[in-house]
Amino acid sequence: MKRTILVTGGAGFIGSHLVRLFVNKYPEYNIINLDKLTYAGNLANLVDVEKKENYTFEKGDIVDAEYIYKLFKKYNFDAVIHLAAESHVDRSIEFPNDFIYTNIVGTANLLNAAKDLWKSNFAGKRFYHVSTDEVYGSLGEEGFFFETTSYAPKSPYSASKASSDHLVRAYNNTYGLPVVVSNCSNNYGSHQFPEKLIPLFINNIKSNRPLPVYGKGLNIRDWLWVEDHARAIDVIFHNGADGETYNIGGHNEWTNLSLIKLLCKIMDKKLHRSEGESEKLISYVTDRAGHDLRYAIDSTKLQKELGWKPSLQFEEGLEKTVQWYLDNIDWLENVTSGEYQKYYDKMYVGR
Ligand code: NAD
Ligand code: DAU
Repeated sequence: MKRTILVTGGAGFIGSHLVRLFVNKYPEYNIINLDKLTYAGNLANLVDVEKKENYTFEKGDIVDAEYIYKLFKKYNFDAVIHLAAESHVDRSIEFPNDFIYTNIVGTANLLNAAKDLWKSNFAGKRFYHVSTDEVYGSLGEEGFFFETTSYAPKSPYSASKASSDHLVRAYNNTYGLPVVVSNCSNNYGSHQFPEKLIPLFINNIKSNRPLPVYGKGLNIRDWLWVEDHARAIDVIFHNGADGETYNIGGHNEWTNLSLIKLLCKIMDKKLHRSEGESEKLISYVTDRAGHDLRYAIDSTKLQKELGWKPSLQFEEGLEKTVQWYLDNIDWLENVTSGEYQKYYDKMYVGR
């Protein structure tokens, strides 16, 4: 079936993996990638698909309601897969308004355009909202996040994502907009901006810089390979039920410290360093304000109802990930030039 699909945030980390998957797997779909190209958006993430006939890039801002309306009119979209967001928790602590505008107002603008321009006939339309497990708040040592877990976001980032999730569901309930939502755990893999734990630490280990571990390093995250997230979005987009929510996660919990030690071990091997050398770079720094203790997703619904499951063991995925960054030093150097150093100094120097 021919379809014109708007992907927002397609030049970012997860978005670029999703765009690549859809452009290659569905030549009958027209994929329109709308991205503002903030510091986190990078067209170099998509060089391998940029010349494909079924791919178009549009530079624009989801906060600009008029622009969004025009874009909807220009392409007459059949579906939206919405990933564009400010996504880094530490930045949300420094600059909360950026998150409120992009994540809440930007989502509302997309919902309004979809509602108004599709309302004569919602049949065959789909608004897919990509969200995070952080909306559920923080777990103690036991238990999991289920689709039915109450929302309890604790950072400006997660609160802005929770607001956008509520808006999406409200448009479904009030206007009948056909929506689907997924909430995913921490992603890792290639093309992730090196402000997030894994690529930041790979870059620092490579350059023999300190590894800034927040607090005691005992916070727990549930890690999923980014390509498995993209596959889950594919399955949910095509087979998920209208109005439903699906949790996506890898059943793969690690304390930050145990993950960092594994990363150091892999890097020691790859860089031909003696065992234990990279670990010496670990440096405990002031904790993140309001740092959530533990995230853990129960993805039984997605696995049982739609047949998705993660494809990669973490050790294998982390090794592949390290190899990608080492093989793509130009990419890493390109994204860490310019403003990056100012950001790094603000966040870490004297912390
Ligand atoms: P990212 O920061 O790597 O990419 C975000 C993209 O959105 C960038 O390309 C950026 O240029 C674009 N963007 C930002 N503001 C925009 C605006 N106003 N208008 C248009 N484009 C804009 O983020 P990511 O890690 O790829 O996350 C993508 C989505 O997945 C987000 O909605 C995030 O909340 C969600 N998510 C991320 C993770 C994770 O571990 N990274 C896990 C679960 C859910
Ligand atoms: O759970 C899904 C979320 O995962 C996504 O919604 C977010 O977009 C994504 O950024 C991620 O959020 P986290 O805050 O969990 O990811 P981050 O990589 O920033 O941090 C992972 C853990 O590592 C967290 O406990 C904080 C810690 N950390 C992070 C950095 C950047 C450090 O100890 N030192 C650091 O320098």
